[in-house]
Amino acid sequence: MSKKIVERVQQLKGKIKIPGDKSISHRAVMFGAIANGKTTVEGFLPGEDCLSTISCFRKLGIEIKQEEDRVTVFGKGWNGLSEASEILDVGNSGTTTRLMLGILATRPFHSVVIGDDSIAKRPMARVTEPLRKMGAKIDGRGKGNFTPLAIRGGQTKGITYTSPVASAQVKSAILLAGLQSEGITTVREPHKSRDHTERMLKAFGVELQEDGLTVSVVGGQELASQHVVVPGDISSAAFFLVAGAIVENSEITLTNVGINETRTGIIDVLLKMGAKLQLTNEKVINEEKMADLTIRTSELQGIEISGEIIPRLIDEIPIIAVLATQANGTTVIKDAEELKVKETNRIDTVVSQLKTLGANIEATDDGMIIHGPTPLIGGKVASFGDHRIGMAMAIAGLVSSAQVEIEDIEAIDVSYPTFFDHIQELI
Ligand code: S3P
Repeated sequence: MSKKIVERVQQLKGKIKIPGDKSISHRAVMFGAIANGKTTVEGFLPGEDCLSTISCFRKLGIEIKQEEDRVTVFGKGWNGLSEASEILDVGNSGTTTRLMLGILATRPFHSVVIGDDSIAKRPMARVTEPLRKMGAKIDGRGKGNFTPLAIRGGQTKGITYTSPVASAQVKSAILLAGLQSEGITTVREPHKSRDHTERMLKAFGVELQEDGLTVSVVGGQELASQHVVVPGDISSAAFFLVAGAIVENSEITLTNVGINETRTGIIDVLLKMGAKLQLTNEKVINEEKMADLTIRTSELQGIEISGEIIPRLIDEIPIIAVLATQANGTTVIKDAEELKVKETNRIDTVVSQLKTLGANIEATDDGMIIHGPTPLIGGKVASFGDHRIGMAMAIAGLVSSAQVEIEDIEAIDVSYPTFFDHIQELI
């Protein structure tokens, strides 16, 4: 476990290229692996989570070349996947676990899926139950709710499933299984979750029907290989958007950031709080929108964040909490109980660690309440193995009066291995 000390800075100025989107990078590798032909990926995120996806699909018999942010996947169609002789280790990655289970549900062989201590605590019944209903045989701890999980796929039938949670991982797992199931598979969700699967499946030649909160696929579909250009990850950009807004004398431009509407809750929140944020150079590549984002030091107001916006910013709540400590007035975050089943229980970790740094913050059942502005005073905090907690604490350190010491900092490599280099470039 290594530590990092972050100190207050006088300004952040410059331009950085945010690394590739994690959700899109995972999907590019997985869809390339089940597609017919050679898929090339540009702008891939070489973070540990996406490398876990590559490693699992190699074990499933797919040749994959990776050099930094360039990946080539030699897909052989659905039947090109073969039984792995080893356990499939997903590391810290929930997306690898849940989407891969959807793919394995229709493969006529046995697989064992395992991950790290954090994955072992995350609920998997949200995918194993619907996949069982479709006909996959899945067993694991807690009646199939926790890893290690064993899955034997095969002949599956389409289902109509109403998900109790707005989760792109659940939606994607069921749709992927549906592509090789008999009949039609329909997923309905309570609010719209990120739609990268739908967009990328279309780019790979799949036909799907979308109607509001419902998505359907007809079984028996093959994917055709593609060239995928991955935009920068708005969830990674979020740390610098907040840093630029709260550090004095700052102006930061982030280039080629993905601005898919199902992900831009952070932009809506920043604008509503009064941030000086501008979008330029908007374009669309591979069905995904991207833009350059420029943020300047801003005078901020507390707001309420609840309802349908929550799935559009769920991964950004740790850094939004840091933002709220520097805003005038109270920020209330509601309807976010999903935070409890992320890489850590993020209601607990955000509230406890920000309190240590002097924030006026309290946990609620489904979120948190933050009273600002409060001067942060520095102190010793930890990531608890959660990349986004580690990065949120580092940004808090940039505005704290005394230094912030962060334990277990290597967790950041999961999604943003060059995070501290980028801070350094802006100081
Ligand atoms: C992801 C979906 C979200 C998100 C996660 C990535 C994806 O999780 O929090 O970081 O790539 O599909 P849920 O589907 O559990 O909401």
